[in-house]
Amino acid sequence: MSAPSEVPKVNKAVSNGYGPPAEPFPLPDNADILTQNAIKYMSFAGDPRTRFIFQNLTRHLHQFVKETDITTEEWMTAIQFLTATGQKCTSLRQEFILLSDVFGVSALVDAINNPNVGSATESSVLGPFFTEDANDVPFGESIASEGKGEYMLVQGRILNTAGEPIPDATIETWETDDLGFYDTQYTDRQGPDCRGRLKSDAEGRYQYRAVVPVSYPIPGDGPVGTLLELVHRHNNRPSHLHMMVEKKGYHKLVTALYPEGDPYLTSDTVYGVKKSLVVKLTKIESDEEARKHGFKKGPFTLLTHDYVLLTDDEAREARKKVTEANLLKEAEFQKLIS
Ligand code: BEZ
Ligand code: FE
Repeated sequence: MSAPSEVPKVNKAVSNGYGPPAEPFPLPDNADILTQNAIKYMSFAGDPRTRFIFQNLTRHLHQFVKETDITTEEWMTAIQFLTATGQKCTSLRQEFILLSDVFGVSALVDAINNPNVGSATESSVLGPFFTEDANDVPFGESIASEGKGEYMLVQGRILNTAGEPIPDATIETWETDDLGFYDTQYTDRQGPDCRGRLKSDAEGRYQYRAVVPVSYPIPGDGPVGTLLELVHRHNNRPSHLHMMVEKKGYHKLVTALYPEGDPYLTSDTVYGVKKSLVVKLTKIESDEEARKHGFKKGPFTLLTHDYVLLTDDEAREARKKVTEANLLKEAEFQKLIS
């Protein structure tokens, strides 16, 4: 007789170790009991913030399903959409961020976390095209290789809220070329282009050559593109120039400037535009002026803008007000669901 063949070991399904609630839930014989049970389940989280977020999320999700009377087919479509969104993500493509962007959620999170304070420059969405590999660009030099677009000179100062210069601040800046593509969208990318890392000088000044920004569509070849088509929405961002300004002791500023007159200014598909970030561009025709600044010839466009940073303490103070308001909301929420 031959030896008995090896019986494969079957691993028993392993529970996560938590037992049933000490007090049994009522059986969910109707939708309202189901909602109450689902919210109660989230109350077991030890951390109050975690508890608040997940109880609130559950409440709003249930409310959404009830208010829309969603059908089984519609819910399956939503599940398939989210599945496709995840499948579209790679190390270079983040479709979930894009989804959050087109719902205005990224801009909302940004607005709540960077409250507007006095003269400080307002923030704007980071977007998915910032990279860490920008070259260091000396004062007055170019972030764009020749032929990437119409010439633009960008200059101004980095200041604190008292109007004093901030020297040695790091300024990251990035934009598309005149075809509306970031360097990372080219499969044959040789290295960083239309992006650079600069420093403010002793008087807080910065200056660099770039190209005139153009409006461009956000990537439309994934589920988010399909969604925008479904709801008959355009997928364009108005022309803009991204900036990220950092200096030790100051709150990091992530923002963008939006030249006036762009047809998409008031319908940015990711809600990044704020009035204070809309800027005027000036056309300078003179060849001589152009050469003085390192361009081959005129004309060129001038963009002058000062950035005002909050100190860490000023930013913390502004955030504290938001946090205090949140604690009140949390207390109100507990009353609402009890
Ligand atoms: C951008 O400005 O680079 C951007 C922001 C949000 C979504 C897509 C692009
Ligand atoms: Fe952009």
